[in-house]
Amino acid sequence: MQQTEPGIVVPEGGFVAPPPIPQPNLYPIEWRVETPKLVDIYERSKIDAWNPSDLSWGSLDPEQFTWEERVGLMYWFALLANFDASGPAVFARATIHAFETHEEDPIRKCFFSITRDEMNHEECAQRFIQKFVPGGPLDWTPRTPLEQAARNNIEWLYHNGGRYWNGYNQAILRYPLAVLFTSFMMGEVASSTLFRGMATKSKNPVFQEVFKRIGRDEARHLQICLTLLEHSWPGLRDEYKPLITKQLRAGFVFLSMVLWEPPPDFWQLPPYYLANQRVLVDIARHAGLGVLTFDEQAENWRVALARVRQIISRWDIEFPAIPELDIDGVPVGDIQAEDIIPVF
Ligand SMILES: [Fe+2]
Ligand SMILES: [Fe+2]
Repeated sequence: MQQTEPGIVVPEGGFVAPPPIPQPNLYPIEWRVETPKLVDIYERSKIDAWNPSDLSWGSLDPEQFTWEERVGLMYWFALLANFDASGPAVFARATIHAFETHEEDPIRKCFFSITRDEMNHEECAQRFIQKFVPGGPLDWTPRTPLEQAARNNIEWLYHNGGRYWNGYNQAILRYPLAVLFTSFMMGEVASSTLFRGMATKSKNPVFQEVFKRIGRDEARHLQICLTLLEHSWPGLRDEYKPLITKQLRAGFVFLSMVLWEPPPDFWQLPPYYLANQRVLVDIARHAGLGVLTFDEQAENWRVALARVRQIISRWDIEFPAIPELDIDGVPVGDIQAEDIIPVF
């Protein structure tokens, strides 16, 4: 043994390398940057950070609404929560996955920022629900048929949310990031359009403030998805392309529940579900929430999907047929629970 600095031991045969670290694994630690634009977006997320507690919740007096309106408003936020409240867990899982597969550092950080934002979005849905119907979405006692219909629909909605969660957990291990991110991108295009539209249409300043802030976050999430896809799509193997086409239809089927009306694929719902949802959402609409009408929502979807179609056409990926909106494309068959990845 040779000694150089006091206390430092240099073995005669040289230092011994540890065994290779089994992968996937967080280790070894490194902070590689391949896409500087993602570094900038992550910085932007820190500058844009906001605290839901700082919003003017005190000015939102539930007494300004009738009890039916409160149930309708609670219903819409419970519907939103089926999507937005899955965000923290979905992106937390994606963050862990990105660490384990040694994605470049800004990808991991951007996923983390989405997790952070989605937690805020969930908190807003939670706060609105508690204001309008304390104990909601599920822990309250409905008395009238309207209230019973609202609670029962929410139970059915969360039954379907639970089915999608299992599919997502498997998909994240199976598919490359480019596939997962096409689905996320659909969710972000949809949510940024939704919140921008509602911020403009809603009548109440607290709704407007929340929708404006969430919309800004969602636009940044979309930027993250697009930047990541620019980076990973060129290397995408052809075998994954039909899968992406199917994912886009899956995104439409899943997100239409909150953006429009759900097509029958995937969704397991009782026959009365949609009729009751129409009544409840209509009550929320008339209470000034800013929900677009059926036709406005359809138009909104067409604009968002045209944007997605234009983005993916650059990578030779075909667009799925969406006959519900008269959009032509490739038929992809029925969407099953395991096809659903998209979130908000
Ligand atoms: Fe969100
Ligand atoms: Fe998002």
